[in-house]
Amino acid sequence: MNPQQPAEPMPRRTQPRVAVLTSGGDAPGMNAAIRAVARAGIARGYEVFGVRHGYTGLIAGDFMPLRLRDVGGIIDRGGTVLGTTRCMQMKTEAGQLAAVQRARSLDLDGLIVIGGNGSQAGALALCQRGLRVIGVASTIDNDLPGSDVTIGATTALDTALQAIDRLRVTASSHERAFLVEVMGRDSGHLALTVGIAGGAEAVVLPEVDTDPETIAAQLRAAHERGKSHAIVVVAEGARYNGDSLASHFKEHRERLGFELRVTKLGHIQRGGSPGVFDRILGSQLGAAAVEAMHAGKSGLLLGMVGGQVAATPLSALIGSTKALDPRLLELAPILAQ
Ligand code: F6P
Repeated sequence: MNPQQPAEPMPRRTQPRVAVLTSGGDAPGMNAAIRAVARAGIARGYEVFGVRHGYTGLIAGDFMPLRLRDVGGIIDRGGTVLGTTRCMQMKTEAGQLAAVQRARSLDLDGLIVIGGNGSQAGALALCQRGLRVIGVASTIDNDLPGSDVTIGATTALDTALQAIDRLRVTASSHERAFLVEVMGRDSGHLALTVGIAGGAEAVVLPEVDTDPETIAAQLRAAHERGKSHAIVVVAEGARYNGDSLASHFKEHRERLGFELRVTKLGHIQRGGSPGVFDRILGSQLGAAAVEAMHAGKSGLLLGMVGGQVAATPLSALIGSTKALDPRLLELAPILAQ
C-alpha cells in the first residue's frame, strides 16, 4: 500500500444487522427458531448472524453469517446448531460490558436471545446497557412467566412420557413401584404434566411439600386396591427427590407394598427431534422476534399466551415465577386412584 494514498474507506453497510444466540440448556425446537430468525430476517432485509456458544461466543466475538442455505435441513434436529453455554461471565458487570462492546464492534442493530430464565436475565442486562434485545421463550422446564408453553417443553414431555410408559410395563411384570425423576430445575411443570399424562399413582413437586410417608401411604393404598404397579413422578427440584425418597424407603420398605426401583431420566429429556408443536412454536416465535425488532421494540420476551404470540417486558420476569395450573394440581390425585 502506498502510504501517500489515503486508506480505502470501509465499505458502507447497506443492510441492518441482527444476531441470534441460544443460551442455557438446549431445547428441541431451538433450531426451528434460529431458522425462522434467519429467514424472516432476510425477508425483512436484514443481514443475519448466528453467535456460537451463547453469551460466551458473544463476548469472544464468535459469529457466523446465517444465510438462507445456512439454516437448511435443521428444523428436524434436536439441540442447537449454534451451540450453547451457561455463561458465568454474563452475571458480572465486566462480562456484560464486554458483550455490549462486541455487539457494537460488529455494528449490530439488535440481538435475539433464545433461552430460559437465566438467559433472559442476561438479555435484560444487555438491554439496560443500551443494546436492542428481544427474547424468545425456550426451555424444556416450561417455567418462564410470559409463555403458556416454552420451546422444547412439549418434546421433552413426550420423551419422558415414552419412558414412563415403558417403565410401567416392567413395573407391572414384576409388581414393582418406580420413582421416576424428571428434570425441571426448581419447578414442577414437567413433573405435574407428565405425571397426569403417564397415569402416575403420585406426583412429587417442589411447589407442594410432600412428606415421604404420604407417598408410602399412597403406594400402599394402590397395592391394596390391587394395582400391579405404581409410578411416582418426582421433580428433581422437590424437597425429597428420587435419591432421598429411595433412601428413606430403603429403611421402611415394608410400608410400600411394592418392591422399589428408581430411574432418573436426566438429560435424555433434552435430546431428540422436536415434535410438530415445538417446530411450529419455534418458527412462530423466531419470526415474531424479527418483527418486534423491525418495529423498533426492545426489552421484550416473546412467548405464546392463549394461542397467540405475546410480549412481556423482560423486566417483569425478574423475581416472578410461573405458577402451576391449579386445575391440574386438583386433578392429579383424583385420577391417580
Ligand atoms: O433448564 C433446563 C435443565 O435441563 C433443567 O431441567 C436442569 O435442572 C438443568 O437444565 C440441567 O443443567 P445442565 O445441563 O447444565 O446440567
